[in-house]
Amino acid sequence: MEQRDLPWIMKNSAGTQIERRDEPYFDAALRDELEADLMPKYPNRRAATLPVLHAVQNKVGYLPYQAIEEIAAFLETTPAEVLDTASFYDQYMTEPQGKYTLWVCHSLSCELMGQPDLLGRIQKKLGVGPGETTDDGKFTLRTAECLGSCGTAPCALVNDVLHETIDTDTFLRSLDDLN
Ligand code: FES
Repeated sequence: MEQRDLPWIMKNSAGTQIERRDEPYFDAALRDELEADLMPKYPNRRAATLPVLHAVQNKVGYLPYQAIEEIAAFLETTPAEVLDTASFYDQYMTEPQGKYTLWVCHSLSCELMGQPDLLGRIQKKLGVGPGETTDDGKFTLRTAECLGSCGTAPCALVNDVLHETIDTDTFLRSLDDLN
């Protein structure tokens, strides 16, 4: 069946070529740290999938397919299962990200308080849309569901830093100050 016959996008996952490097992403130091500090808190290895994904993503910056395989071996499960989990949640990225990821909340309170203008002007300034990274690798733009700060909408995260009651002009200027 051809793509034009389907209402969804088909990916030939079985034919994906995995880029590999000799050095593991999930190295011995991280392995030892997780074995000592994290794994004892979980009833079985698979139960630790989410925090292990976080730990590797924090170290590498994203989750390359090779790292997914390494995580699966560590958790004694399959790469498919780890990838299923990673691809289900927005916060896990299997592609390289910009140095700064902008998460613009697009849930109701933020939308009512000016999110469309905020997002539109960020897109215009950076020249990228949601899910894209600027050519210089500095910014990745993403949208997010409610960031849990509806009372101070509109909100956005710049990496892990929450910006509240955003004034669009001030926010855009603050991006120029990021090195
Ligand atoms: S709707 Fe944006 S923080 Fe809740």
